[in-house]
Amino acid sequence: MRPRIIINAAMSVDGKIALRGGKRIKISDEEDFRRVHELRNSVDAILVGINTVILDNPKLLVKERYVKSPRNPVRVVLDSHLRIPEDARVLDGNAPTIIITTEDARERKLNAEIIKCGKGRVDLKCAMEKLYSLGIRSVLVEGGGTVIYSFLKEKLVDEISVFVGSIIIGGDAPTLAEGLGASSEDELIHLKLLEARALGSGVLLRYGVVYD
Ligand SMILES: NC(=O)c1ccc[n+]([C@@H]2O[C@H](COP(=O)([O-])OP(=O)(O)OC[C@H]3O[C@@H](n4cnc5c(N)ncnc54)[C@H](OP(=O)(O)O)[C@@H]3O)[C@@H](O)[C@H]2O)c1
Repeated sequence: MRPRIIINAAMSVDGKIALRGGKRIKISDEEDFRRVHELRNSVDAILVGINTVILDNPKLLVKERYVKSPRNPVRVVLDSHLRIPEDARVLDGNAPTIIITTEDARERKLNAEIIKCGKGRVDLKCAMEKLYSLGIRSVLVEGGGTVIYSFLKEKLVDEISVFVGSIIIGGDAPTLAEGLGASSEDELIHLKLLEARALGSGVLLRYGVVYD
């Protein structure tokens, strides 16, 4: 058994989720931030990859500015070799944090629960089963592109929400889905459009994933 898995991200019109080199950029506007914080408040866990922690250092909390009496879901980081910096904001103790790592990781004392799943790179199916066994029934995957693509390739995604901000970044900045990508048509990931609506200065797209 696994939790329900929702991907949420903000991208430019050309599909980029950060500046060239991976520097964070604000793509969402106030309307979208409100939607994201309401979505965060509705799930049991918010998950990101270790590169997002290193590059963006997010708190992954629900802001009171957007949600009255926030629940602050569990924060989950995929970090195969426990590279997380000690002063990462997700380790601030303001919400429970789980770091999912592998058998290869050296022992470290961190302000988080540490779970091991797989060797080399975190085994996502094992990770989702372990989260389920801890009572986590829904996970919001917030990025980055490498983690998003892995979840899609492993056929673990139930829904995708993408806010498309009215900007173009261009060049080789990180995209919504990184990883190896498809080199043939049969490797494509097919989506079903559930909703498309104007939101603030951009567009919100919501998809289901069609797995055969
Ligand atoms: N606009 C948005 O909505 C948004 C949201 C979040 C992030 N971002 C941007 O995304 C960029 C970071 O994305 P990224 O693609 O470089 O990194 P990422 O997806 O945040 O993290 C990828 C890393 O996670 C670890 N990982 C562990 N298990 C994994 C698995 N099964 N599958 C995939 N990864 C696994 C790997 O490192 P180890 O092998 O060391 O474990 C991998 O290199 C930043 O520029 C950030 O600003 C944008």
